Amino acid sequence: MTDPTTFRIDTGADSATCGAGQRILDALLRQGMWIPNSCNQGTCGTCKVRVIDGMVDAPPAPDTVLSEAERQQGYVLSCQSTPLTDVAVETQADESGAHHHVLRDVAGTVSSITTVADDTVSVTVSLDEPFEFIAGQYVELSIPGTDQTRPYSMANPPSEADTLEFHIRRQPDGLATDRWIFDTLAVGASLSMTGPWGDFCHRQDEPGVGLILLAGGTGLAPLKAIARAALEIDPDREVHLYHGVRTEAELYDVDFWRSLSAEHPNVRYTPCLSRQEWCGRTCYVGDAMMDDFDSCRDHAAYLCGPPAMVEAGVRALKRRRMAPRRIKREKYTPAATLVAP
Ligand code: FAD
Ligand code: FES
Repeated sequence: MTDPTTFRIDTGADSATCGAGQRILDALLRQGMWIPNSCNQGTCGTCKVRVIDGMVDAPPAPDTVLSEAERQQGYVLSCQSTPLTDVAVETQADESGAHHHVLRDVAGTVSSITTVADDTVSVTVSLDEPFEFIAGQYVELSIPGTDQTRPYSMANPPSEADTLEFHIRRQPDGLATDRWIFDTLAVGASLSMTGPWGDFCHRQDEPGVGLILLAGGTGLAPLKAIARAALEIDPDREVHLYHGVRTEAELYDVDFWRSLSAEHPNVRYTPCLSRQEWCGRTCYVGDAMMDDFDSCRDHAAYLCGPPAMVEAGVRALKRRRMAPRRIKREKYTPAATLVAP
């Protein structure tokens, strides 16, 4: 007899089981069936799948994420949709070239909370057991006393398998930050999370290519993980890190990046302030990069931070002739904007 609370998801190549109320993306990733995904909150459209057979509960999505034509063809966001019957879906091909790890629940204990800049903390977590991920990925942190989660990127490389480092910026009146992490979270607290999520992954298939890393605010976190992972493989790797914030009081990890560039001959660190004159660069990260490079044709880039910063950085890289396939990006889109019409 079939279990009425469990449905089957058939992708053609494979099949997974999905509990009632469980989202399609969650079920596939937990059973080792990786499909492209990024925000896990209905704001990017990366995870869309086409429902060929069966019924799903798919909440409305903004037109910018899922067009009317795609809806007509049966596309849904797998990170938001739950099966109502057994379903057959057509998934997008995973072209990341990465060896992905199975999504799972992870538990840990806060081992330190350090204020590193205005409204910014670095939080380290000791895990109950080792956790596999790729540099650049994130976890979904459960907010105690709610059914809500928020994504936060790991700032340390996967080689530190039993510790996670996060950089977290306070959002005024934010549920996770202002009302929990910056308010009551303390050393010794237990944390629950799921991971690893996302396609923003350090590529290991282009070992000699120089890296240009453009970060805005706490978008520095996954780029720190990527830089450290790349340098573990090749200490002479060319890495250009541009970190953009508004004022000097928001800059952090300066000593870390200065020591890294002292230790590694080809690491360059360029902090940029957008709203304050100082002894360093006053400009946006994309403008600083354009001043330094006549051509980026032979490099690869990773960008992370607020959407406007990431989009401007991508435009700058394209103006310096970087091939689109070599540009990887992660946008820190606020969760609340997903509330669909
Ligand atoms: P919420 O309660 O979600 O928001 C409160 C109000 O503020 C809402 O009105 C909301 O629309 C608005 N708001 C929230 N964020 C912003 C914003 N950035 N700009 C303008 N308005 C906003 N953040 C980090 O600090 N470090 C990370 O490593 C990190 N990783 C992320 C990875 C991914 C893939 C994504 C999508 C986001 C990431 N973020 C990260 C952002 C983070 O997940 C939360 O969105 C952020 O911490 C605010 O959560 P909150 O619950 O405090 O605010
Ligand atoms: Fe589903 Fe972004 S991963 S919309």
